Amino acid sequence: MSNLTPEVLISEDDIRKRVAELAQQISTDYNDSGDLVMIGVLKGSFIFLADLSRQLKIPRTIEFIAVSSYGSGSVSSGAVRLVMDVRGNIEGKHVLIVEDIVDTGHTLKYLIGMLKSHRPASVKTAALVRKAESAEVDVTIDYLGFDIGNEWVVGYGLDYAEQHRTLPYIGVVKPTDT
Ligand code: PRP
Repeated sequence: MSNLTPEVLISEDDIRKRVAELAQQISTDYNDSGDLVMIGVLKGSFIFLADLSRQLKIPRTIEFIAVSSYGSGSVSSGAVRLVMDVRGNIEGKHVLIVEDIVDTGHTLKYLIGMLKSHRPASVKTAALVRKAESAEVDVTIDYLGFDIGNEWVVGYGLDYAEQHRTLPYIGVVKPTDT
């Protein structure tokens, strides 16, 4: 692995401000709506989920789910497989899926359909970043942090070959860095 530090794309300060705005909006939207369960998609969402959930001003519970994509390397075939389901019962609850990044959209689309089969009261989505140019399926992100270009980003939960997840900012890895 390279010792090069990824170039900053979205600073720690900008992330902090945007996460606070999203938390405020979610707190307003779900106020008095009933049980809210935030479901983090492993592994990449763990930092975003931690920061976002701690800033909410409304009651919420936390679940995790894990999926894997079929396909080789960084090229997804679009087929998604459930690796770990939520532990708790989400029937009748308001579900907020929390993702670090939406790329092709296949993972989020699969999760929305799968979680709806548990008969929740509602399903909405939050993602810190979206690669708008990479979208292959139409999927709604109700709470979006940032739109980015088609670069490989790391940090704030995102990895390149499991490296850089704990960087406090979103950085860009160039092929020459690896
Ligand atoms: C990333 C991300 C999403 C998915 C999005 O996970 O966390 O779950 O890819 O891609 P898509 O929109 O093309 O479906 P990744 O497979 O990198 O796993 P990780 O979260 O464990 O790093």
